[in-house]
Amino acid sequence: MDPQKIIRKYYDPNSEAYRVLVTHSELVMQKALALAQRVAHLQPNLHFIREAAMLHDIGMIFTNAPKIGCHGEHPYIMHGILGRELLETEGFPKHALVCERHTGVGITREDIAEQNLPLPDREMVPVTLEEKIICFADTFYSKSPGKLMQEKSLDKLRRQLAKYGDDKLAILNEWIAFFKLEEEA
Ligand SMILES: [Fe+2]
Repeated sequence: MDPQKIIRKYYDPNSEAYRVLVTHSELVMQKALALAQRVAHLQPNLHFIREAAMLHDIGMIFTNAPKIGCHGEHPYIMHGILGRELLETEGFPKHALVCERHTGVGITREDIAEQNLPLPDREMVPVTLEEKIICFADTFYSKSPGKLMQEKSLDKLRRQLAKYGDDKLAILNEWIAFFKLEEEA
C-alpha cells in the first residue's frame, strides 16, 4: 500500500489539513520507529509501523477542527473511528485499528460511558505492540499548527495525562518504563 496515495485521495495537497496531517504523521512515524528500536528484541513490524503511522489521523478530515483546516461535521474525538471506517473501506483493516485505538493513551468503554463521548461502546485502547508504539509516539506531538514540530518532554506528557486521571497517567508511566525512556542520562 502507498499511504501517500490514500492521503491524497481524501486531502488536497495544497490544503492546510494536508500540511498538518503529513507533517504530524511524519514526526509520529519517526518517533514510532525510534521507540520500535528500543524494543527491537520483540521484533515490531517496522513496515507496518511506517504505513500506519502515516495514516493514524487520516479521519480528522471529517471532523470540525477549523484550526487544523478540517471542516467536517463530526466532533474531533471521532477522528479515530472515522479513520477506521475510511481504512476499512480502502481494504486495510489492521491499519484501521490503529486509527481507532490511538487517541490519548486509549479510550475505554468506561471513559465513553462516564464522559458520554460520541463513540460506540467498545474498548479503543492499543492492543498490539505496533498499536502501542504508534499511540505512544503520537502523545509526544500536538497538531496545533504553531506547535507541530515541538516534541513534548516526559514531564509535560505526565502533566498532560494527569489531567485525564490517575489511570491514564499510570499507562503513560508503564510505557515510559516499557520503552526504558528514563534509564539513560
Ligand atoms: Fe496523531
